[in-house]
Amino acid sequence: MQLFNLKDKRALVTGATHGLGMAMAEGLAEAGAELVINGTHQGRLQEALIHYHNKGYKASGYLFDITDEHAAEKNIQQIVNNEGDIHILVNNAGIIKREPALDMSVNDFRKVVDVDLVGAFVMSKYVAKHMVARKGGGKIINICSMMSELGRNTVSAYASAKGGLKMLTRNLATEWAKYNIQVNGIGPGYFATSQTDPIRVDGNPFNEFIINRTPAGRWGDPSDLAGTAVFLASAASDFVNGQIVYVDGGILATIGKPSNEE
Ligand SMILES: NC(=O)c1ccc[n+]([C@@H]2O[C@H](COP(=O)([O-])OP(=O)(O)OC[C@H]3O[C@@H](n4cnc5c(N)ncnc54)[C@H](O)[C@@H]3O)[C@@H](O)[C@H]2O)c1
Repeated sequence: MQLFNLKDKRALVTGATHGLGMAMAEGLAEAGAELVINGTHQGRLQEALIHYHNKGYKASGYLFDITDEHAAEKNIQQIVNNEGDIHILVNNAGIIKREPALDMSVNDFRKVVDVDLVGAFVMSKYVAKHMVARKGGGKIINICSMMSELGRNTVSAYASAKGGLKMLTRNLATEWAKYNIQVNGIGPGYFATSQTDPIRVDGNPFNEFIINRTPAGRWGDPSDLAGTAVFLASAASDFVNGQIVYVDGGILATIGKPSNEE
């Protein structure tokens, strides 16, 4: 369908060497977009590019840390020079550190906020400068979290950063609407990735908690994010701005239920 067609669009997806970033990048490529992926590990970046090329997608890779303002600005300029205009930016790169707030070092707290919030600002600022200069508008998609809305033990830094990312989304949507740049977010629920492999086993209390807490009764599959990414990257969402779409199997819709209730 034309509304969702991303042909002739170029999408820069940060941290798209694996995991949720890769699943969203694949969705964008299936809709016709050319991919530019960012990573921080040379080997993983090369493996990911082989994966994308084997699937028949046009993809290039750039190695840099999104928290390094100088490197980000330089690489974004190189992407524009080498590949062409960036029409879509997905701020997917992120980290989490799980520690009780009473024990968490201030350095660790700062590191999480630096990657998950400041890194998204750095990328958005320098990509948007090109979008504004080109006068062609653009789409920015920030990957938020359940923790943009809810608290949980041990994730004070992550929740602060992802809550901040939700508000950064609304603020940039407000500031850049006049340039026809839409800034929205995706808030994934709990997803089956290699990181969660060890806890997604029968009998693990956290596994049972997530399945019980999610009205859909299952973990998300990374491919569940692709449709929302395509929607927010395409003309179908041209009048959608400053929204966070929670792809969570219904978690935020409910207070949950006792574990003995069907
Ligand atoms: N996995 C989940 O269930 C889940 C749920 C909600 C939100 N999220 C969010 O989705 C995004 C992707 O999650 P994932 O599970 O695929 O994570 P992941 O750890 O598998 O991948 C994160 C990626 O970000 C990259 N990255 C980290 N720091 C970086 C930096 N400074 N510069 C550039 N790249 C950097 C990593 O190299 C990696 O490629 C993250 O923002 C995460 O917070 C994940």
